[in-house]
Amino acid sequence: METVVEIEHLKKSFGNNHVLNDINLKIERGENMVVFGKSGSGKSVLIKCLVGLLEPDEGKVVILGNEIAKLPTEELNVLRKKIGFLFQSAALYDSMTVRENLEFPLRDLKKKPQAEIDALVLETLTSVGLEDAMDKMPSELSGGMRKRVGLARTLILKPEIILYDEPTTGLDPITSKEISQLILDVQKKYNAASIIITHDVECARITANRMVVIKEGQCIAQGTFNELSASTDKWVSSFFK
Ligand SMILES: Nc1ncnc2c1ncn2[C@@H]1O[C@H](COP(=O)(O)OP(=O)(O)OP(=O)(O)O)[C@@H](O)[C@H]1O
Ligand SMILES: [Mg+2]
Repeated sequence: METVVEIEHLKKSFGNNHVLNDINLKIERGENMVVFGKSGSGKSVLIKCLVGLLEPDEGKVVILGNEIAKLPTEELNVLRKKIGFLFQSAALYDSMTVRENLEFPLRDLKKKPQAEIDALVLETLTSVGLEDAMDKMPSELSGGMRKRVGLARTLILKPEIILYDEPTTGLDPITSKEISQLILDVQKKYNAASIIITHDVECARITANRMVVIKEGQCIAQGTFNELSASTDKWVSSFFK
């Protein structure tokens, strides 16, 4: 087992608002970790600390062996490229086709031959089941398809770590299930470590190798889906109703 994300005694406050109070978490390569927490419990703050967008007050974050707080900006930017982030809103560029959206993250790479880029776009779109939508505009896509394109755009850089912020929110149950299944397919194909923030029990059931529940800035429960769904703790079990 190789630990790719290690969070130790992480604390983060905004004034008197003590958002993260002592978060400890380890994620192994190839593992899907689901994070449950109420709205406002600090899930997005946690993710921002992971990618160095927010600086923790105390504690440390180690990603792929690098302590984030100690990295010079340039090295932090290199490390960030190994982390894929699927935004809640999919955040596609509406004036670009699907193909152009996928090519966009590649713009910083040293000039690759167009044939290589084409092959990469096709491979990545195929892995999310959307190879036929390559020349469509985002406005022509359904919500579930947009999510898939967002995921493809994240995957095209072959991230070692993927952060999913509420990947199924706003989708109907059937599409949600398809996206959850896709997260599982991506795990197998890319062997990435993923952090999946969600309130969706079905998504957690499908994707989680392990889960953690955050309350008042602390991890109050950790375990497999089966362990946590059988919890007698009122607060933990309230997520599974
Ligand atoms: N940049 C900031 N400055 C001040 N307070 C902040 C900042 N970012 C987040 N907060 C506060 O931190 C707390 C946690 O916010 P966060 O966005 O992490 O919640 P969340 O768990 O992601 O919620 P949701 O499920 O609604 O997305 C909130 O009280 C929020 O007001
Ligand atoms: Mg959030």
